[in-house]
Amino acid sequence: MHPKSPEQMEAIKAKMEKIFLFSSLNPIDKKKILDAVLGVTKNAGDVIIQEGDDGDNFYFVEKGSLNCTKFLKKDDPEPTFLKEFGPGESFGELALLYNAPRAATITCKSDTCELWSLDRNTFNNVIKTAVQKKREKYDDFLERVEILKCMEKYERTKLADAFKEQWFEEGDYIIKQGDKDGNEFFMVIEGTCIASMTMEPGKPAQKVKDYHPGDYFGERSLIRDTPRAANIIAQS
Ligand code: CMP
Repeated sequence: MHPKSPEQMEAIKAKMEKIFLFSSLNPIDKKKILDAVLGVTKNAGDVIIQEGDDGDNFYFVEKGSLNCTKFLKKDDPEPTFLKEFGPGESFGELALLYNAPRAATITCKSDTCELWSLDRNTFNNVIKTAVQKKREKYDDFLERVEILKCMEKYERTKLADAFKEQWFEEGDYIIKQGDKDGNEFFMVIEGTCIASMTMEPGKPAQKVKDYHPGDYFGERSLIRDTPRAANIIAQS
């Protein structure tokens, strides 16, 4: 346990809300993380994680920006830039989840970076099993989803952390045409659904599409910020 001020507790809680690795934890486990994290401040150029090293901690960002780079081929003279991390993002989970060497290097980019670090033991005891199960469950499925084929494997795996499983029964409306508040994108894991649309006011809705496992829907309103264009109804 590392003592913290009430302001620090609030700041950590706010960041934890954004991190999908923590989303399936119960309140008791969330409290364990809150108690166990330790504040770390780094300066521009400091290396927080070195590719190839053993993993000791998992990190999430309070303030500042960091660069993630990797030697994609053994004899590359320079590492390749992969991405930038900012507040509310996390890194360093791979080595702990898979007992593997660090897969990339993370360097402080801004003048200073404030991070929260979580030790390997707490990570393993509280998070590891739940996250591994979820990633294993969805890995094969995500590889087959057409819209995700252009994503890098690492990013696709992280999507599994964000998944929330929902179950519907035959006839349930998953999406209603005209709904303006839809903020979810769905993928069918099991069973079938149909899309139906009311073409003219007062006329019955007509079936326009079938959905099977691996298909997705609900992306249109999220991309265009428009009301839902069709109903999606569970069929099986
Ligand atoms: P880890 O291997 O423990 O340490 C380096 C971290 O970089 C890694 O965990 C991930 O959190 C992060 N990372 C970000 N993008 C990638 C990527 N494309 N491949 C590997 N690691 C990445």
